Amino acid sequence: MTKPVEWIAGLTIGTIESVSPAEFTVVLDLEAPQATALNTGSPTAFPRINGYVLVAGQAGSIVGQITWLGIERSPFPKRPGLKDFGLVDLPYPLRKMHLTPIGTLTASRRVGAAAEFGLERGVSSFPSVGDAVSLPSLEEIRGIVESTGKDARVEIGRSPLARGARISIDPDKLFGRHTAVLGNTGSGKSCTVAGLIRWSLQEARRTLPEGAKPGRTNSRFIVLDPNGEYRKAFQDFGDEVRVLQVVPDTSGSDGGSQDLFKIPAWMWNAQEWFAFTSAAPKTQQPMLMQALHNLRTGGQATTTPEKHARALFSTYRVLIKAKIAAGPPAYAEFPALKGCHNILQRMCDDLSSSQVACQAGAIKAALDDARNSTLQMLDSRCNVSKGTRYEQPLSEKDLQDVVEKLNAITQAPKPAADPKPVSSPQLRNPDSPLRFDLAELPDQLDLVAELEPGTAQHVSFLSFRIRSLLADGRIRPVIDPEGAPTLAEWLTEFLPGGDGAGVTINVLDLSLVPSEVVHVLVSAAARLLFEGLQRHRRQFGKELPTVIVLEEAHSFVHEGSDDANEVPTASQMCRRTFEKIAREGRKFGLGLVLSSQRPSELSQTVLAQCNTFVLHRLVNDRDQDYVRRLVPDLLGGIFAELPSLPSQHAILLGWASPVPKLVRINDLPFDQRPNSADPEFWDVWTRKGERATDWTLVASSWTGTEESPDVEEQEPPEDAEVGPSESPTDEGPEEPPE
Ligand SMILES: Nc1ncnc2c1ncn2[C@@H]1O[C@H](COP(=O)(O)OP(=O)(O)OP(=O)(O)O)[C@@H](O)[C@H]1O
Ligand SMILES: [Mg+2]
Repeated sequence: MTKPVEWIAGLTIGTIESVSPAEFTVVLDLEAPQATALNTGSPTAFPRINGYVLVAGQAGSIVGQITWLGIERSPFPKRPGLKDFGLVDLPYPLRKMHLTPIGTLTASRRVGAAAEFGLERGVSSFPSVGDAVSLPSLEEIRGIVESTGKDARVEIGRSPLARGARISIDPDKLFGRHTAVLGNTGSGKSCTVAGLIRWSLQEARRTLPEGAKPGRTNSRFIVLDPNGEYRKAFQDFGDEVRVLQVVPDTSGSDGGSQDLFKIPAWMWNAQEWFAFTSAAPKTQQPMLMQALHNLRTGGQATTTPEKHARALFSTYRVLIKAKIAAGPPAYAEFPALKGCHNILQRMCDDLSSSQVACQAGAIKAALDDARNSTLQMLDSRCNVSKGTRYEQPLSEKDLQDVVEKLNAITQAPKPAADPKPVSSPQLRNPDSPLRFDLAELPDQLDLVAELEPGTAQHVSFLSFRIRSLLADGRIRPVIDPEGAPTLAEWLTEFLPGGDGAGVTINVLDLSLVPSEVVHVLVSAAARLLFEGLQRHRRQFGKELPTVIVLEEAHSFVHEGSDDANEVPTASQMCRRTFEKIAREGRKFGLGLVLSSQRPSELSQTVLAQCNTFVLHRLVNDRDQDYVRRLVPDLLGGIFAELPSLPSQHAILLGWASPVPKLVRINDLPFDQRPNSADPEFWDVWTRKGERATDWTLVASSWTGTEESPDVEEQEPPEDAEVGPSESPTDEGPEEPPE
């Protein structure tokens, strides 16, 4: 039987020749394995670039990663046994290697149990020249590779350098401080991103407390998918996943079953409006801002109290007419009727203040009349109990009467011009997402322009553009949808609570979206989510963990010059939004996962805020340099592998992985991969894979002139390995426990 001392001696492969804080040089023993080490418990490739070896130290073994291997001529042979000083020694080839120290491996041993190894970053005491270097045992290698903290719950792959040891990550670290998945096309980024989401959610499901109701996780993922790759990737999650089309898909390939993405334009802030309309900074933007402000406050552009009153109460009239058109649910049923009472109450306050401001005359009398009759009506529709008002249902006639009174105001004979100017009421936040009728915006703009001499021509161009954008059949259902959600409904859709009814993964299919609007839509959506989460934390004291996934991130957060004084273009604004999320999102539970082919084209701010990196193959020099400069661990050696990494292999480093590791990402079965398989030129050329082509169909669906028949689903390739699926549905339907 081998004694422990002999076993350790058997693993020794060389001695330290020189030590610097960043690098050790090791002279290998003559007997050290040449290609495969058989003495480590299982055959191991040795020596191997990026492999691990140990140097015994005081506080534990120092883990070194091999960064260079070579042969150097030594003046003396490293001879075993006695040296014969009578001989003339010729230069002798010696195998050497360079190591980068990456941490210290410590062992904790519980009585009666095998030792457990853990890796700590940093080296407290460096070895000395002549110290022995040894190969790690199987347990030690697991300690190095698998130790990513006790909360590393989600397995994402295996280590090809450490005999297939599992590589797991802590989802809090991965999603909490932003992750970047970088690599050339086809290197496996999208599969990795889909895997990270899927495996995290599967693990979370498994860990749900016994008897948890309902059986779905309280998680929120929003995947921004510019290529429409993820439409099918999470299909097996059933109603937990929702694919939102931005442009209705008329190709019929999905049976038209997708929901439409809606982001009503009244939710946008002024910057988003400027970018959407490309408003000129000096002439058009102030007018647009004023018009938005007027519509949001209900105040209209005006110069006299009488004009102001006329415009303001015509807006109220529009509002009340909209309530009448919406029918009894809007004014006679709870809870909406409270909102209707509130509007009328606010209108009475405005009537009072306008009545005070106006000069004696027909309009003043009409204002007084409207106020008195509306207040009377409201009083008769309220019960007061113990000092609290309880609103009762209103009738259509009540509202019609109010409209009549408002008509009297707007139609009252105009008094002689009154030079007394008034300003519109000020909003606390001019960008408040207050609802207004979008169709009124162009008119309001014209009205604002009327009051500013010499601006009419600038604004008429802008209002024409807004009119045509609002009339665009592709955009209108998104920004001015019928039955638009309220702000609260919109937020609930994307950031559902843990009641189990909400959607866990929202995939936003941005393919086919006109490029002039995609940045505005994405930016507005991301900003609203961010601000929503910010306010949620202020309200409830705790954050609501949410992840935004940015596929092809270079198209949303493209690096570029930014002049703080200039008004940003749509793509600059999009970048600024994500830069803000990258900087501040963590505090409010908003994590980012970026995936990109061109790290050097990504915003430096966003990338610098990413704390975890999954680096797939990167061939381009500039991209490699860029990544090398940004990553927190400047362990240069492992980056040498970047250009030669096979698909599905990646280097994991950063906050979620204490030491950089090579990982082979776990397999995703074909039907769970994002739809981006490599094109099969040869099979198509040689007629092995048939391709149906009918450009008439494409043209008609493109131009929207004809509904096209269903297109067949893509078949999996013959060699598609459909590995053992761990999908939730494979485990059988999860019955919520009684
Ligand atoms: N984890 C994985 N499991 C199974 N197959 C994978 C995996 N990773 C990569 N592949 C294979 O590699 C192909 C390309 O992967 P993927 O689409 O993820 O690349 P990508 O880096 O996102 O490319 P692009 O930049 O062009 O979007 C996939 O179609 C799949 O066949
Ligand atoms: Mg991809």
